[in-house]
Amino acid sequence: MLRRLHPDQPDSFAFTPANQAWAEAQLTKYPAGREASAIIPLLWRAQEQEGWLSRPAIEHVADMLGMAHIRALEVATFYFMFQLAPVGSVAHVQVCGTTSCLICGAEDLIGVCKSKIAEAPFALSADGKFSWEEVECLGACSNAPMVQIGKDYYEDLTAERLAAILDELAAGKVPVPGPQNGRFASEPEGGLTSLTEADTKHYSYNASAELATEIGDTVKRIDGTEVPLLAPWGLAPGHGKGRRPVPMRAPGAQGVDDLTRLEGVDKKLQAMLNGIGIFHFAQIAEWGADNVAWADAHLEGYEGCASRGNWVEQARGLAAEGKTAAARRATTDGVET
Ligand code: FES
Repeated sequence: MLRRLHPDQPDSFAFTPANQAWAEAQLTKYPAGREASAIIPLLWRAQEQEGWLSRPAIEHVADMLGMAHIRALEVATFYFMFQLAPVGSVAHVQVCGTTSCLICGAEDLIGVCKSKIAEAPFALSADGKFSWEEVECLGACSNAPMVQIGKDYYEDLTAERLAAILDELAAGKVPVPGPQNGRFASEPEGGLTSLTEADTKHYSYNASAELATEIGDTVKRIDGTEVPLLAPWGLAPGHGKGRRPVPMRAPGAQGVDDLTRLEGVDKKLQAMLNGIGIFHFAQIAEWGADNVAWADAHLEGYEGCASRGNWVEQARGLAAEGKTAAARRATTDGVET
C-alpha cells in the first residue's frame, strides 16, 4: 500500500505541556547521542494527541530527537500503526481480513463498515466520528472474525454485533471488549475439553477484557494525564511496585466473604479491599508475590499488611473451609454437588 502524507496539513504542531513533560522524560532513558531510539514512542504520543500524524508533528519529533526529518518520515510511513490521515474522532475500526477471519465472516464486517461508516477505507463517516481499514492478521485467529477498535480487540463478531458496537460507541458508550458470543476467552465454543477444573467463575471477564475495562482506555486517547505512564523512574514511592490483583466487578452470588478473618484486616481495610474489587478469600488465595507486593505498597495506612499477615496462605485455608461448608449445606439440602 502506498503510504503518503495527507494533502491537507496543519501549519504547526506542539505537544501539550503534559505530553511535552512525558516526552522529555522518555529521552532520559537513552544515553546522550542515542535519543533517536525514542522515535516510535514520541511519534505514537503525537498521534495519540492529535488522532493522526501530520507532517509538522513528524518534523517536530525529529527536531526533538536531533534527527533529519527524512529519518522520522521513513519511520512514520513504514509502520502501519501510524495514521497519516485524520481518522474518526470516536474510533478507527481495524478489521482483520486475513484467512481465519475471512473464512468466518470478515467480509460481512467490512460490509457493516462500508454501510455504517464510509464506502472507502480511511474515509471519515459523514459525522466525522468513525473511519475504518482492513488490516492483516491481528493474532486473535481463534476468536475470528475480529476487529481492533482503539487499543482493544472485539472478537467472535457477527455483522449484527459489530453494527451494535458502532451504535454504542456513537452514543458515547464503550462496549466491553473481548469475545462477543459469550465465550470467556478462546476456549472451544462447546466448552472446555481439557483443564476442565479451571475456575473462571470468579471473574467477570478474561484478563485482557478485565484490564481493558479497568483502565477504560479502549477508545480514549492517551493525553498525558496518566501518571503511571509518565516515566517509571520519576514516580512517587509505591507506584510501579508489584502488580494490581485482578479485580471482580461485583461479589459472587454467595455474597462478600468476611475478610476481617484475615490477620490485620479491620472493617476499614475490608472496605478498601472491596473498593478495589477484592471480595473473596478465593481471589486472595490466587495472588502471586507481585500482587502481595502491590497490596503492601498501595493499601494506604496498611502498608506491609498483606505479607505480614501472610494473607495468601490464610485465604487458601479460609477459601477451602468455605467450599467445604457450601458442599455440606448442599448435601443437607439434598442437592447434588
Ligand atoms: S486471521 Fe484474523 S486475527 Fe488472525
